[in-house]
Amino acid sequence: MAPIALTQTESVSPAQVHTLKLKGDATETPTGVAQNTLKGPLEYKGTLEEYSHFEVTPSIGREFGSDLQLSQLLKADNSDDLIRDLAVLISRRGVCFFRAQDVSQDEMMQLQKKISTLAGQPKDSNMCIHPVSENTGEMGAKTQLISAEMQRKGGGIMRLHDDVSRWASRAFHSDVSFEKVPSDYSMLKVNVLPPSGGDTQWINCYDILDKISPSMLEYFKTLKADHNANFFHQEAANHGKTVSKTMIRGNPLNVGDDLSAHHPLIRTNPVTGWNALYYSYGFGSRIQGVTYDEHLMLRDYLTQLCLNNFDCSVRFRWEAGSVAIWDNRSTLHSATFDYAEERSGDRASSIGEQPYFSPEGKQKSEALRAEGKKW
Ligand SMILES: [Fe+2]
Repeated sequence: MAPIALTQTESVSPAQVHTLKLKGDATETPTGVAQNTLKGPLEYKGTLEEYSHFEVTPSIGREFGSDLQLSQLLKADNSDDLIRDLAVLISRRGVCFFRAQDVSQDEMMQLQKKISTLAGQPKDSNMCIHPVSENTGEMGAKTQLISAEMQRKGGGIMRLHDDVSRWASRAFHSDVSFEKVPSDYSMLKVNVLPPSGGDTQWINCYDILDKISPSMLEYFKTLKADHNANFFHQEAANHGKTVSKTMIRGNPLNVGDDLSAHHPLIRTNPVTGWNALYYSYGFGSRIQGVTYDEHLMLRDYLTQLCLNNFDCSVRFRWEAGSVAIWDNRSTLHSATFDYAEERSGDRASSIGEQPYFSPEGKQKSEALRAEGKKW
């Protein structure tokens, strides 16, 4: 019998392929233009332990008494040692508070620059210039006045003219995280405050990672998020202003009128070597490399993760002359807009490095266990 020919070709329809539309490339890497200059994490030498202080919560915050005057740290013989330790302490505790300070605006600028420099600020980075806030612009990097008036006019992060959430938590953010090279540290001194209200809260984004399963955390390490503040164009227009297209805002990469940037969702802090969630709710944060539906789910999860875990947060009640200095790479913060009276003060903020995720980065809790330390 003749063999059956098996060469007949069948016409098979290819399986229908669905291509999911994803926004952004989650694997893009930084250009490396603005890298932190530290060779490795810094050790806290303990030079500030002699001043009266307490840890505000186990997770976040240290408060110093008025025997520590920030103005004196600048004048001390071992000024660099003290201020380097201050930078390390702030990065480890997230935020430090100082009562009854006599530090002037100029001294705030000097101190802020020195903290950033000793913590490895890239040579191209300088003081932060906000694209919209009052008292900035072409006048250069002066201290920035914060006031309740700006928020009431709708010029601030609460976006009172926009159709956005009216919940108080919507303002949680990391300073200028919409910049390609955002802030490393910020300092705020409140001079005038209402009899009650206007507290500020911070969230420790290192400790938030302990609330995530290891497998979920591994997935988050592959993602990036869009930090977007292009709503400031409308806010500026409401006040007869425009966002400058040419002014350099603290780093040559921070120029132009596109106020948005993609950053790793898990960010390594070069000062501590610890990883933190870097998710700035106040600036939108479209998660990249996932579908819109997945983005919504993740955004809701990350928001609840930050806002519901109050064991990772601290709330500070200001007095006239109080100063707070915090690390923007590993904390979120928000003022509480629950007052009608005047609240004003001075702010100094510096631009740090381009955010990155390092596979060498450690989880804070594991690092502390290995070091045998509480914080
Ligand atoms: Fe802020």
